[in-house]
Amino acid sequence: MNYYDLAIKRKSTRSFKSKKVSDETIRVVLNEAFSCEKLLPDLQVEWKLLDETADKWISGCAGYHGYMIDAPHYLLLLTQEDPHSLENAGYAGEDIVLKLTQLGLATCWITILDPEGLRMMLRLDTDKMPAALIAFGYEKTSIGGNVRMDIKSPSNIQMKQRTGHIAPKLYVKDSVYRERWGQPCDLSAWEPDSSLYQAFIAACCAPSALNRQPYRFIMDKNIVCLAVLPDELTAPSDAHLNVGIVMHHFAMVISHQNTLHGQWILSPPDKDYRLPDGAYIAGYFQI
Ligand SMILES: Cc1cc2nc3c(=O)[nH]c(=O)nc-3n(C[C@H](O)[C@H](O)[C@H](O)COP(=O)(O)O)c2cc1C
Repeated sequence: MNYYDLAIKRKSTRSFKSKKVSDETIRVVLNEAFSCEKLLPDLQVEWKLLDETADKWISGCAGYHGYMIDAPHYLLLLTQEDPHSLENAGYAGEDIVLKLTQLGLATCWITILDPEGLRMMLRLDTDKMPAALIAFGYEKTSIGGNVRMDIKSPSNIQMKQRTGHIAPKLYVKDSVYRERWGQPCDLSAWEPDSSLYQAFIAACCAPSALNRQPYRFIMDKNIVCLAVLPDELTAPSDAHLNVGIVMHHFAMVISHQNTLHGQWILSPPDKDYRLPDGAYIAGYFQI
C-alpha cells in the first residue's frame, strides 16, 4: 500500500450513493480493520459495522451539531479505556480510512458527541467505549470536478478548487518549525521526494475536525515533535483523534515507504520549545 499516494488522494465525502458495498468487499474491510495499524498495539479495540439505519438511531449523538451523514455503511471503533485511547482510535481509524480509499470507497469521519448515548442507542453489549465513527460507501458524483468543502467554522463553509495536494490544507513551510516554536525551517535543502518531506506533505493532508488542523511540527535534530494548539472550535475528543490521525499519516509514510524507521512516543521531550499559551507537545517521533 502506498500510504503517500493514499494520503494525498483521500478526501471527505458527505454525499453517498445508497448502493451498498458488496459482501465480499465488506469482508475485506473487516479483515483490514481487524489487523489495522495502531499507535498502542496492546490496547484492545473492537470494530462494529453499522448499516444505513444507524443514522436514525444515532442522530443527535454524532455528527457536527448532531447531524449525521447518510451513508450505506459505518464503521464504529470501540476502545478499552486508556489515557491515549483516542489518539490510538484516530490512528487506527485513519488506517482504515486509507484502506477504504485504496478500495475505491469514499469516507467521512464523524464526530462522536455522546459516546455513552451511542452505546445505549445501539444496544452495544461491550464494556468498550465508542471512540471513532467513519461513514463509507460510494461517492455520489461530486459537484463539478476537483472541488472540496473547506470548513472554516460551522457557519463559514465554502467550496474551494483543489490545486495540487495541499489546498486548502496547511503548507509544509508554514507547519514545520526548527528547534523551537515559530522559528522557520529552511526547506530548500530538502529533496521534494525525500522521505521526510513526503511524510510532512502526507501529515499536512490529514483530515481534522472542521479542517482546523490545530497542530504544527518542530524539527529538533533527529526528532520531530507534534505541537497541538488550543482550538475552541474543536471538541476535546476530536482534538485527540486529530492527533492520532496526523501521527498516522506521518509515521506510515516515513516508516513504510522509506528507509527511516521510528515510532511516536506519546510524551513531550524534556525541553522547553517556547510554545504559545495552551499549546502542548502530544508526542515526538525519533528518526
Ligand atoms: C475527528 C474528526 C471528526 C469529524 N467530524 C465530522 C462530522 O461530524 N461531520 C462532517 O461532515 N465531517 C466531519 N469530519 C471531516 C472533516 O470536516 C474533514 O476531514 C475536513 O473538513 C477536511 O476535509 P478533507 O477530509 O476532505 O481533507 C471530521 C473529521 C475528523 C478528523
